[in-house]
Amino acid sequence: MLPPVGPSGGPREPMHIGTVDSFDSREPLSTVSTLGTNAGSEARVESIERLGFLPVAVDTITASIALPFDLFVRTDPRVAPVLFRERQLALEAGDFDRFGDQGISTLYIRVADHVAYRSFLLDTVLRDEGVSVGKRFRVLQVANRAVFQLAFSSRNADQLVGFAGEYGEELARLVSDESVAACELLDLMAHDYYTYTHVTNVSVLVLLIAGRMGMGASDEIVALARGAVLHDIGKRHIAPVLLNQERPLTRRQREAIQEHAKLGFLELCHRRDVSWDQLMMVYQHHERCDGQGYPVGLVADEIHPWARMCAVADVYDAMSSSRPYRPAIPLKEVWEVLEGDRGSQFDREVVKALRAVVSS
Ligand SMILES: [Fe+2]
Repeated sequence: MLPPVGPSGGPREPMHIGTVDSFDSREPLSTVSTLGTNAGSEARVESIERLGFLPVAVDTITASIALPFDLFVRTDPRVAPVLFRERQLALEAGDFDRFGDQGISTLYIRVADHVAYRSFLLDTVLRDEGVSVGKRFRVLQVANRAVFQLAFSSRNADQLVGFAGEYGEELARLVSDESVAACELLDLMAHDYYTYTHVTNVSVLVLLIAGRMGMGASDEIVALARGAVLHDIGKRHIAPVLLNQERPLTRRQREAIQEHAKLGFLELCHRRDVSWDQLMMVYQHHERCDGQGYPVGLVADEIHPWARMCAVADVYDAMSSSRPYRPAIPLKEVWEVLEGDRGSQFDREVVKALRAVVSS
């Protein structure tokens, strides 16, 4: 059995520091646990949060690097995690062997340390060229989830715009990495339709589409990624209960949700740190080439090219993800919709590019 000790001290009772009530209830912080492991049932994860801990996957920790957080282990699900390694100390190769021997794939940090954990991931794994792009992509997702949720639930758009700047740049850097295969990223995408997952998926899809369509300049790619991260910012103003409603929406409810494109535009249109191209992604990503979209009903070339890319990525991810009121739609049917409507609802060239990306 693993001794729950740090090299410099004996067993210590972990500090209980409360829960994360401030986060959007649609997106429990417990989902931070998902890096390459199954951390157990949702109920178990929630109970661990109530104790003041977050599960983190063993394979997100790099050996021999001092940890900026205390690390806990839990060998008995009936009791709270116990301290395994104190902050400022590192895990060594032997620790990983012992985790492997005992089938331990999940460790724990205090909820209060999630920012330090994020910094650790960004500064170590993400900058390590020896780590596969796939793993770096997953680490990037895990590291930013809680920050996104905080920014998304903030009244002020500053946090989300700032987040989009950093996250968009990291995503663009990873997707543009020549060693990565598009199918590798597509395989790593989650399909739970949490807002964060959706934003991440749409951003990656838009970047892959843009690459396929020949958009090469790195500053343009980064700007595109930032716009994609922001595209649904207006949903912050829509009641969660409406977004997650399981019953069919009434016409009035559907119209209320459709307001998010305009609300996002109004929130960002005065900002100097959001470009016109990015603004059009926010405003026009539900426009359709046949003029049946919203909020304006623009047709074809009237719709900004970045918004046309975003529209296809948005529908592709929305259909292939599970929703509160239906399971994920099989990809075959998703393609029937995208290709059936190609040129009416969707931009032909964009659909063609996405098809090429997915088939590559
Ligand atoms: Fe949207």
